[in-house]
Amino acid sequence: MKHYTSIHDIDDINTWIADAKALKSNPLKDSALGKDKTIGLLFFNSSLRTRLSTQKAALNLGMTPIVMNVSGDAWGLEFEDGTIMNGNTAEHIKEAAAVVSQYCDIIAVRAFPTLKDKAKDESEQVMNAFKKYASVPIVNMESATGHPLQGLTDALTISEHAKTAKLKVVLSWAPHVRALPHAVANSFVQAMQKMDVEFVIANPEGYNLNPEITGDTPIYHNQEKAFKDADFVYTKNWSSYEDYGKVKNTDPNWMITKDKLENAKFMHCLPVRRNVVVEDAVLDSDSSIVIEQANNRTFAAQLVLKKILENL
Ligand code: CP
Repeated sequence: MKHYTSIHDIDDINTWIADAKALKSNPLKDSALGKDKTIGLLFFNSSLRTRLSTQKAALNLGMTPIVMNVSGDAWGLEFEDGTIMNGNTAEHIKEAAAVVSQYCDIIAVRAFPTLKDKAKDESEQVMNAFKKYASVPIVNMESATGHPLQGLTDALTISEHAKTAKLKVVLSWAPHVRALPHAVANSFVQAMQKMDVEFVIANPEGYNLNPEITGDTPIYHNQEKAFKDADFVYTKNWSSYEDYGKVKNTDPNWMITKDKLENAKFMHCLPVRRNVVVEDAVLDSDSSIVIEQANNRTFAAQLVLKKILENL
C-alpha cells in the first residue's frame, strides 16, 4: 500500500481487523520497523485524538514523529495552479509538499472541508495536492470527505465488542449547535458496508448523506424504528449535505438517551458535546465504549503505518 487516504484503500477489512488486534496485543512487536524513519504530521485543523494517537502509533513502530500546525505556523499555502501569487498565500503546495518530502518518509495530513463549496470539498484539493506533489506516502488524518483512520478504528471496536454472529449497527445523526463535516459519518458508512453486519442510518429529513456513499444502506427518518434491536449505536452530527453545510435542525428529540439505547453500546468518535449530542447518563454508563474506541485509534494508525513502512 502506498497511500492511505480512504476506507477503499482497505482490501479486506476482516484481515485488517485481525491484524490490528494482533498489534494491540503486542504493540512493540515491530518497534524496529520504523527505525531511522520520520513521519510528518501536518494539521490545518485542531485535534486531540488524531494528533496523539498517530504519534503514539509511530513511536510504537520506532519512527520519529514531527508535528506542525500548518494554519498559523507555516506560510500561507496556495493550491491553485497558475495563480499570480500576489495575495495572502506565500508558498505553493508544489514546493511545500516536495520540501516536506525531503524531511519525512511519510506525510500525514488533516484538512477539513470549507462546508461552503461542495464541489471544492468533494475534489479533496488539499489531500490530492499532497498525493500529487509529495514524493512519499500520504495518510489522511481527516479530510474534506473522509476520516479513514477513524473508520478503521470503529470497525475494530465493533469487532472487539461483538457478542453475536449477526450484529445490527446504527449510525444516528444527533443535534449540534455548529455546522460539522460529513467525513466521520462517510468513512463509518464505508467501513460498515465492508463488514458483515446489518447496517442502517437514522437522520432527520434533509440530512441524508451523499447518496453515492450511502448507496443501498437503509435510511430511516424515525430514530426509534432504526434503533430497534440495535447492538451498536454510532452517533455523529453532520450538517446538511443537500443544503450544503447548513444547520437546518437542532431538534433535541434526536439527542441520544439511555432509554433509546436499551441494550445497545454507544459509540462516538469524540469530541462530543454532553447533553446536546448525548446525555450524561449514556456517557457515564457501561453502555458507552467511547474511551476504548479512542484507545483503538493508536492501533488502527499503527496498522496503517506498518503496512506503508513494509512497502517503502
Ligand atoms: N476523533 C477525532 O478525530 O478526534 P480529534 O479531532 O480530537 O483528532
